[in-house]
Amino acid sequence: MTPTRSAARTAGRTDGGGRRAIVTGAARGIGLGLATRLVEEGYDTTLVDVDRCVESAAAALDASFAVIDLTAADASTRLNALVDAEPCWLLVNNAGIFDKTPLLEIDLAEWDRVQAVNARSMVATMQAVVPSMVGAGGGRVVNMASMAAKVGTPGEAAYAASKAAVVALSRIAATEFGGHGITVNSVCPGYVLTDMGADTRDDEQVAGWVSMSPLGRLANADDIASLVIYLASDGASYITGQALNVTGGMCTN
Ligand SMILES: NC(=O)c1ccc[n+]([C@@H]2O[C@H](COP(=O)([O-])OP(=O)(O)OC[C@H]3O[C@@H](n4cnc5c(N)ncnc54)[C@H](O)[C@@H]3O)[C@@H](O)[C@H]2O)c1
Repeated sequence: MTPTRSAARTAGRTDGGGRRAIVTGAARGIGLGLATRLVEEGYDTTLVDVDRCVESAAAALDASFAVIDLTAADASTRLNALVDAEPCWLLVNNAGIFDKTPLLEIDLAEWDRVQAVNARSMVATMQAVVPSMVGAGGGRVVNMASMAAKVGTPGEAAYAASKAAVVALSRIAATEFGGHGITVNSVCPGYVLTDMGADTRDDEQVAGWVSMSPLGRLANADDIASLVIYLASDGASYITGQALNVTGGMCTN
């Protein structure tokens, strides 16, 4: 018998219970799906995004929000203000942008922008938020990487390099924060049909990706959220420094 999601939730303790969670890139897509699940699980959730739509997204969830460009010079200061009053248990660095350009045609300014949003921003958010976890005696950081960090696809050089940086950054952060009871992991989703990359895909490509999964489907935001919620739980306290796939078996390394 297939367990229902609520039965699965009961079996795997999630420990939301009013704990504070901050999710970046939460105005839409995977981040919004995750924020929705975190609110359902009882986390006191703050949605962060550069897109002002984050305000209505947060209002629909009865959650708090902040409009912040994570590449801006004041991003760290503004994020730090979010944890002034209440420390954060879970930081999910999910904001990201996609780029699909053949390597020999990549504009170097665009390369820098992809690295800044996808990887450098996580340094700023961790510098802003992790000290509150240290003060509170523990916490969880989950950094959104991608299957692209592990599998080569033409045209994804800037994106894949940024996601490989996320995996390496998370591994180092795990070694530096572990002594404070803080775990750091990266999550590597496969293909999720969100707005990301919508302008560069067609039905044939989507069918090609579906055929790569033994499960015969693409991921949805809930598939990714389920892993993040587990990583935030007390049961995941001995998992750190990992780059965990949620790819429906498309990628097994
Ligand atoms: N969709 C996929 O197939 C897929 C696969 C693997 C990994 N991912 C990763 O998952 C994460 C979420 O992807 P998604 O598909 O939901 O994308 P999306 O484009 O739907 O959402 C990304 C969000 O990040 C926000 N954002 C972008 N730049 C920002 C900045 N400078 N400051 C603050 N917020 C910013 C956007 O406004 C948007 O709300 C990304 O890191 C992405 O690389 C997605």
